[in-house]
Amino acid sequence: MEGKIIFLFSILLLSVVSHSQNFDHKSAYDQLQTNGFPVGLLPENVVGYSLNTTTGDFVLNLDDHCQITLPPDNYLASYSTKITGKLLDRRIKELNGIRVRAFFQWWSITGIKSTEDDLVFEVGIASAKYKSKNFGAIPFCEGRKPRVASV
Ligand SMILES: *[C@@H]1O[C@H](CO)[C@@H](O)[C@H](O)[C@H]1NC(C)=O
Repeated sequence: MEGKIIFLFSILLLSVVSHSQNFDHKSAYDQLQTNGFPVGLLPENVVGYSLNTTTGDFVLNLDDHCQITLPPDNYLASYSTKITGKLLDRRIKELNGIRVRAFFQWWSITGIKSTEDDLVFEVGIASAKYKSKNFGAIPFCEGRKPRVASV
């Protein structure tokens, strides 16, 4: 009897947890779109999310490191389990936790701008422009444990 109750309670708890994760998951991508960004900037494994709507400060939690290949030039991008920054209208500043591999090195993406058709990724004082339409779909992580060290 007791076992059964505990079992039922676990099921209940699990469903509550997965429900709230879905909610967070959804709202992070919705929030991106609300601020003029495509959903494909974030990988599928976002499990937690908070945003101060006054300051734009956000914290994103992923369930694991995530590595994806960025279209169209096939640069590798690495997402940490915790990503922070400031989300403003068509502008992400003070970004921390996303890196790209180019020219045989990992570079931190420090900011992202969204214009009519393009996304401008800032790496310190340098930047690279890509068509937003390449980021229309939420990417899957390539393997659970990328070889790169965390940020
Ligand atoms: C948002 O940030 C401001 C300034 O740091 C702070 O005063 C406010 O309490 C924050 N709001 C929330 C909901 O955390």
